[in-house]
Amino acid sequence: QLRKKIPDGLKPLPGPKPLPIIGNVLEVGYNPHLSLTAMTKRYGHVYQIHIGMRPVLVISGIDAVRQALIKQGEEFSGRPNLYSFQYINDGKSLAFSTDQAGVWRTRRKLAMNALRSFTSLSGNSAKYSCRLEEHISKEGEYLVERLKSVMDASGSFDPFRHIVVSVANVICGMCFGKRYSHDDQQLLSLVNLSDEFGQVVGSGNPSDFIPFLQFLPSNTMKKFVDINARFNTFVQKIVREHYASFDKNNIRDITDALIDHCEDRKLDENANVQVSDEKVVGIVNDLFGAGFDTISTALSWAVAYMVAYPEIQERLHQQMKENVGLDRIPCLADKSRLPLLEAFILEIFRHSSFLPFTIPHCTSKDTSLNGFFIPKDTCVFINQWQVNHDPELWKDPASFVPERFLNADGTEVNKMDAEKVMIFGLGRRRCIGEAIGRTEVFLFMAILVQRLQFQEMPGQPLDMTPEYGLTMKHKRCQLRASLRPRK
Ligand code: HEM
Repeated sequence: QLRKKIPDGLKPLPGPKPLPIIGNVLEVGYNPHLSLTAMTKRYGHVYQIHIGMRPVLVISGIDAVRQALIKQGEEFSGRPNLYSFQYINDGKSLAFSTDQAGVWRTRRKLAMNALRSFTSLSGNSAKYSCRLEEHISKEGEYLVERLKSVMDASGSFDPFRHIVVSVANVICGMCFGKRYSHDDQQLLSLVNLSDEFGQVVGSGNPSDFIPFLQFLPSNTMKKFVDINARFNTFVQKIVREHYASFDKNNIRDITDALIDHCEDRKLDENANVQVSDEKVVGIVNDLFGAGFDTISTALSWAVAYMVAYPEIQERLHQQMKENVGLDRIPCLADKSRLPLLEAFILEIFRHSSFLPFTIPHCTSKDTSLNGFFIPKDTCVFINQWQVNHDPELWKDPASFVPERFLNADGTEVNKMDAEKVMIFGLGRRRCIGEAIGRTEVFLFMAILVQRLQFQEMPGQPLDMTPEYGLTMKHKRCQLRASLRPRK
């Protein structure tokens, strides 16, 4: 990138001095959320690093983040042209591709409409308030049964291994009208081995920025390319089946809704022709991918925190027993009766910050932030982890204290504090699955808290150190679960 002349009145960005070729990769290291947070002490909330030869703007601090993503949203909502992104969804991803702003906006709107209409459809029985609640509720009950039978058979279980199938089934239900058995090998091989995905697309992966690394053999990169290819094949097969059995008068799921949109457009001469059918139907690939990895990571952390803080686990169960009871399955309407659970989930989002950076952004024109000049096409990292651990926002940020979100008598969550937690991004690129994500984490957790008690395996202490990636996971582990009596 050629150095541009800095306009009068603006300052150059501060930041560490880069080494030739590798830039600051050594200082960034294997835990960019920690190293880039530590750098704010020296350089402030808006500074620049170099990964390889490429300058990257790092934004921290809730005010600077809000300024960039909300007030100056127009200039800060592009995506950079990174090497690894071309493999995601055949380069046609809604979340990762460098689509022109108009194309991205149209696709985003379509995706939001499809999600909204299929989550809020009324359930198949009066028992459920909406289709989403029905799916989660049923999968939650299957999950409890499944964990019980795994415990009976082998005495321990790996939480991620089972949670991910249940969560994938919820999004499969909405996107494809399908559910899979917990032993389905094809689904398991897709959803259970996806760690490489997050490792490669997490902010700061050097081979995205240092061109020669792309030509070196890399095992992680090979697995990443392979996962994406398998993922695309899996979804394409289902989409083909949907085309073959498509009936305009019976829109069964999100895939049908997207196909229907393409059919409608063919009849409409004034339609926006910029967006190809492939890009419309390809949206389902993003929804499926984003819909299982994030939520299963959140739930797996939730189980891990319950094990790490058994006293909180007991209080969660106690509140369930007193305010909902144990003789019926909890539902979405119970949320206001379970403030400790809501606070616990917020504290997991904050404390783990398992999505430490948003997906990288990119500037769409020359701009400035806090008086610093920022050229067009600058890659931007948004440090959510820093916002969630900023001592100016949070008292004792390193401690895990769900009560920080509750009022004095523990009956209500403080909305202002809840909004300070940053895990879904902000502004124009803000996650479109946020409502689904929050709903799923709440209802699955309510079901687990009511029916099961989780514990460490003797002699196998839980390792809560996160492994860096787009979504950070704790190490895979074996836990114990025992069924709680119904009454
Ligand atoms: C984008 C978080 C669940 C679909 C994002 C971003 C974050 C995020 C941080 C990037 C924002 C940015 O780049 O500034 C989460 C978390 C979830 C979750 C923490 C669960 C707890 C979901 C679900 C879906 C979904 C369930 C779909 C059903 C998407 C899509 C984007 C996105 C399509 C790309 C938006 C765009 O680039 O315009 N999410 N997400 N997410 N998320 Fe989520």
